[in-house]
Amino acid sequence: MNLGVNSAAGVLASVDAGPATPATDLVDYYRRRAESYERIYHKPERQADLRAMEAWLRGRFAGRRVLEIACGTGWWTVHGARDALDWLATDLNEETTAIARSKPMPASVRFARADAYALEPLDGRFDAAFAGFWWSHVPLQRLPRWIDALHARLDAGARVVVLDNRYVPGSSSAITRRDAAGNTYQTRQLDDGSVHEVLKNFPGEADLRALLGTRVREFAWTSWTHYWAASWTVGARTPFPRP
Ligand SMILES: C[S@@+](CC[C@H](N)C(=O)[O-])C[C@H]1O[C@@H](n2cnc3c(N)ncnc32)[C@H](O)[C@@H]1O
Repeated sequence: MNLGVNSAAGVLASVDAGPATPATDLVDYYRRRAESYERIYHKPERQADLRAMEAWLRGRFAGRRVLEIACGTGWWTVHGARDALDWLATDLNEETTAIARSKPMPASVRFARADAYALEPLDGRFDAAFAGFWWSHVPLQRLPRWIDALHARLDAGARVVVLDNRYVPGSSSAITRRDAAGNTYQTRQLDDGSVHEVLKNFPGEADLRALLGTRVREFAWTSWTHYWAASWTVGARTPFPRP
């Protein structure tokens, strides 16, 4: 089992909780980063993993009507949507979506601007969902509500797939802070010189299993050197308890 950096046994014991300063606005950060975003997919040490994951993703959504959350520049859309019946790729940033729209895409792909935290206005029903490198940016305290909101847009028995990073020293950006809720942060500099503190969590299999619990069926975890994937089937509609 892979325990994430956020889990109790994680490697962050030496990082101070630090002051509760607000982190960079994620939408603004990715707007500024849109043009250079795909450099992250050119890191030499990650190429073997990426090819394996692209192949792994193909066929997961065959014949499905898929809602993609935070599609960014569409790196995964191309692969995930290949055999889908219908694929709605959403993101809040026009800047990242413009890059995705400019790429050759499978015929099933449509785009829409949507806030991942406010999915109600989207038209249609879906029997699958995909989110690449989004889970890690959701504050731990928002995850239950976000999962409920996502599941509410899906048919019973829908399939959900999420992909994200494992923390790999020397390849991942260093973690610079952990807040009182257990969220971890990285300090990142963009090409325009701006510096951003970005919330980026590194959960492990146990964290997702504990959070999703009996709300989901057929939970499966796959990991590569630099990445992990989790998939599950949406189960009974039991919302997380509200604080
Ligand atoms: C790490 S990128 C992931 C992009 C793409 N899924 C990938 O894996 O390459 C995070 C994306 O989340 C988008 N984003 C940030 N806040 C959002 C929100 N509230 N709703 C929807 N998308 C959001 C950003 O515009 C960015 O494209």
